[in-house]
Amino acid sequence: MTERERDVGDWPGFHGRFAYDDAADGDLPLSEDEAALLRDLGASGTTRRDFMKMLAMAGLSLSAAHALVGCRANGGQAAEGGGGGLKAGNDGVETVPVTLDVNGAKHQLDVDTRTSLLDALRERLHLTGTKKGCDHGQCGACTVLVGGERVLSCLTLAAQADGQAVFTVEGLAKGEELHPMQAAFIKHDGFQCGYCTPGQICSAVAVLNEIKRGDASHVTADVTRPVKELTDDEVRERMSGNICRCGAYPKIVAAVQDVHTGGAPRAQTWRFVPQEELAALDLQRKQASHDAV
Ligand code: FES
Ligand code: FES
Repeated sequence: MTERERDVGDWPGFHGRFAYDDAADGDLPLSEDEAALLRDLGASGTTRRDFMKMLAMAGLSLSAAHALVGCRANGGQAAEGGGGGLKAGNDGVETVPVTLDVNGAKHQLDVDTRTSLLDALRERLHLTGTKKGCDHGQCGACTVLVGGERVLSCLTLAAQADGQAVFTVEGLAKGEELHPMQAAFIKHDGFQCGYCTPGQICSAVAVLNEIKRGDASHVTADVTRPVKELTDDEVRERMSGNICRCGAYPKIVAAVQDVHTGGAPRAQTWRFVPQEELAALDLQRKQASHDAV
């Protein structure tokens, strides 16, 4: 193992030192994509090892490097002919004009290129129904619909939603008439504190669209055929990106199923257990653990 530190002074915009493990990387020829990316970055190298070292020096992943090349290309256009729309203010912050079509209303905004869709919705348009939970793509509280698909707005740039139809929880009701999913959440008591609820509802609306299309999920037994049946397991799996700290999950599943089936009665899958039965179960458990010893 020959881990050693090197200067990164020859990579524009990056300073300091990095550690790189030569032995851990194979010295393979570059793929076509990698060679093209290297050319776009204005660098040269002949092997995959050189390429990976350059990315390591810049602290970049492959996808980040692609994004960097894309930004440079857009920035170049803006500088040359005003195309691309990037502007730099006196403070050096680059902004980009975007049209956000939210809940049927169009909004023209100049946003910092780094602004997330979540922040644009909450801070610029004051649509605070969409919640910020983790801001790291882990809780689902910020779920909104973009182009009919659910997205995590904390991980989506406002610029990515430019010109697309965005729906937040505020846009689901028709005036005083609640969206069936909102009504079902109330009917089934699918929330307690309500913090996760806007994200849960937007996600659930998209789940039903996915089922209409027959999209498979991780728990679909036969992925070669369109999914027709929305089992509780399918609902749980498809809604698993939406965390509820209050644990309202069984009620959320019931609400989604209610809308899916149009209110058809469902078999009750739980029951209250009498004290005597609980005591008998407890005795059995104790006996089993005693036998195991
Ligand atoms: Fe976006 Fe948690 S706030 S996933
Ligand atoms: Fe409180 Fe879900 S209802 S976090």
